[in-house]
Amino acid sequence: MEFSLKAQPLEKIVADALIVAIPSNQQLSSEIKQLDTACSKIISQTIKAGDLGKTLGATVVLHHVTGIKAQRILLVNSGSKTLLNDSEYKQLVRTSLKTLEALGVKNIAFTLNQLNVDNRDDAWSTEQAVIIASEICYRIKKITKEKGSLSSLQHMSFVTKGKTPSAALNKVITQAHATANGIAFTKDLANLPPNICTPTYLAKEAQKLGKEWKLKIEILEKSDMEKLGMGSLLAVSQGSRQAPKLITMKYNGATQKNAKPIVLVGKGITFDTGGISLKPAPEMDEMKFDMCGAASVFGVMRAVAEMKLPINLIGVVPTCENMPDGNATRPGDIVTSMSGQTIEILNTDAEGRLILCDALTYAQRFEPKAIVDIATLTGACVIALGNEAAGLFANNDSLSSALKQAGDVTGDRAWPMPLWEEYHEGLRSNFADMANVAGRAGGSITAACFLAKFTRNATWAHLDIAGVAYRGGKEKGATGRPVSLLCHFLKQQ
Ligand code: BES
Ligand code: MN
Ligand code: ZN
Repeated sequence: MEFSLKAQPLEKIVADALIVAIPSNQQLSSEIKQLDTACSKIISQTIKAGDLGKTLGATVVLHHVTGIKAQRILLVNSGSKTLLNDSEYKQLVRTSLKTLEALGVKNIAFTLNQLNVDNRDDAWSTEQAVIIASEICYRIKKITKEKGSLSSLQHMSFVTKGKTPSAALNKVITQAHATANGIAFTKDLANLPPNICTPTYLAKEAQKLGKEWKLKIEILEKSDMEKLGMGSLLAVSQGSRQAPKLITMKYNGATQKNAKPIVLVGKGITFDTGGISLKPAPEMDEMKFDMCGAASVFGVMRAVAEMKLPINLIGVVPTCENMPDGNATRPGDIVTSMSGQTIEILNTDAEGRLILCDALTYAQRFEPKAIVDIATLTGACVIALGNEAAGLFANNDSLSSALKQAGDVTGDRAWPMPLWEEYHEGLRSNFADMANVAGRAGGSITAACFLAKFTRNATWAHLDIAGVAYRGGKEKGATGRPVSLLCHFLKQQ
């Protein structure tokens, strides 16, 4: 889908459909009055007749409207408040666009960006609309005999009140579009089946991404990891026929070439059976989504390169498969991580932290300004926060609040969780520096505490996205979260 800005009187706008908000009190703005006059009062007559439903988000489509350049008008009830909240605005955008998509409309002229949203500006309303429109257009690339059908929506122009489209708003659109492309890329990767999306496949995707967006790509093979002493990552991988990879993607956009980078580390378990601590059968297929953290790093790298942000960004993706096998790690095995710390693996299903700890140690060689890891790390995080917020853990308050803030603004929310010393107790081992699991209580916190033991000398945050990265059930599929959050965070840098 393409986006543009238009600064024209509503009656002159050429489009398949023009979206117009009507407040519950039916008071029309001067622009809409002018539009109404141009089309022989069809708008005021429709609402007087009561054809527009009384609730927020009710819509009615006026077809073959004469006297104006647009073919249709979609009226949408914008409620009785002068200020909408975030979710009301998003609901209006979503229902309007979905209604028009169902009619097979291609080109939309959009004016809802002019609505007033509490605490938000034009840039926000526009960015949200771009992201919602792209989400509606998104189709899972099904693997089927016949080709699937695409969304009808092709173009959306934002009508602005000013006479000339502003350069600032154009930039907002370009950046939002880049974010939306990143989200779609993340979904595409994450939705792939685990027999296709293997660690080797991800490494090839990184090479492709590097070519297209001028990123420097480095792939570490098993032998390289052995040399670096990544005993923890290799322990997870050793039960699989798939070769592990450690992917590094570098984007250099800072004006100061050697400015310290931000490093994103994404969990890339392409399938998590649990290993010898085998998971139960129901919903095990969803463990193909255990590489959503990695997929989000790919999406953000793409988006940041497309936005040409003036920052240095490095994506690190440790990727392998967690399988049971004659050569698999046993509960009780002790391994030595790249940091030198030893780990007693009591549960082979707590594998995410085992690949992340070595990747986090590796990430520190880039002398980062900050490291943020993203991982579908624990079922416990889903119990704690459900599907609304990612768990947010950090050893630095300003990094934590910057990420929290980015989540609040984008609606791609994250919620702060503690990393207190007392929680570390459960990870004690009688046989090694630490165990890889603590008890059931506070499972997402103890998992984060495990990671904290490998990032003591860095400014670090961890996003547990187990509850937000994908949906199960009838709507099964990746969400592209937390690409929005991360893109916003990086734009603020
Ligand atoms: N990939 C899972 C976490 C997960 C669970 C993500 C459900 C999405 C939905 C992770 O590797 C895992 O298995 N974690 C265990 C940890 C436990 C053994 C301490 C869990 O959450 O049960
Ligand atoms: Mn697991
Ligand atoms: Zn996992």
